[in-house]
Amino acid sequence: MAWTRKHLLDLEELTAGEIVEILDTAASFKEVSGRSVKKVPALRGKVVVNLFFESSTRTSNSFALAAQRLSADTLSFTSSGSSVSKGETLIDTAKNIEAMGVDAFVIRHSAPGAPHLLARHTACSVVNAGDGCHEHPTQGLLDIFTIREHFMRDQAHKKADPALALKGLTVAILGDIRHSRVARSNAHGLRKLGARVILAGPPTLVPAAIGAALGVETSHDIDYVLQESDVLNCLRIQFERKAGRFFPGVREYAAIYGLNEERMKRAKPEAIIMHPGPINRGIEITPELADGPRSVILHQVENGMAVRMAVLYLCVGANN
Ligand code: CP
Repeated sequence: MAWTRKHLLDLEELTAGEIVEILDTAASFKEVSGRSVKKVPALRGKVVVNLFFESSTRTSNSFALAAQRLSADTLSFTSSGSSVSKGETLIDTAKNIEAMGVDAFVIRHSAPGAPHLLARHTACSVVNAGDGCHEHPTQGLLDIFTIREHFMRDQAHKKADPALALKGLTVAILGDIRHSRVARSNAHGLRKLGARVILAGPPTLVPAAIGAALGVETSHDIDYVLQESDVLNCLRIQFERKAGRFFPGVREYAAIYGLNEERMKRAKPEAIIMHPGPINRGIEITPELADGPRSVILHQVENGMAVRMAVLYLCVGANN
């Protein structure tokens, strides 16, 4: 399948075939990160700008390194210290940077839809690095890449139909679903590839309406979900978005909904533990589990490099 998109704005709009094309392209780029010279010339002459209006460690650095490994020039913009503090708008900011001769914006913003707005008002490629509670498509893709890599090594026959790529797997997404762009991107992507998805946590943070809107299951019974699932993707409680108002206290949350070693005795023996980071250690997951043998958390970060190289290559380089 030939990639035709200039932007990556969300996973809701992608087909199963397009998602698998990104994953397959990422698999070929993963080898580059293992070389002594970690560079290919795919985006030589292009300029990729990181426009981050919210904090980030993993996504911002991973996109910057991914662009550099593709030989692009990179520019990092953070709103603090910029003319945004004098009242300049997002569109004016982007248009002024575009006038410097850049090719792509990677944008994180607290407003859902900010990347879509940018895509309408500039001629550059736009990649969504997280827009409010809407979507975080490259996190969804790197999570799906990690799941596929872990479980699907010997199942080449599923490649024939992208919509079956993850068929047979149950993925639980646990915790603060209400505020989570990661949950939304994962749910869209996983469902399109045939996985069963269960959103789980307290009723206040996992409203049934979110599951219905995404076309996936919801549950408030963590022990049931543990027995069913091959993948346990724990999400951070987003205290900065006032998620703490939705349960009595962090000790109650950890005791009833957090992942710990005692609770994991009910999980499938082969189940893996994921977390997009940053982690609230001791709240949604204990340090022993986050750092233990079932955890693939740092593999997610490693795979994020390959996935972001693939997204930049396809959107900025391959056809544009
Ligand atoms: N997973 C994630 O988006 O992490 P950052 O906020 O550090 O980018």
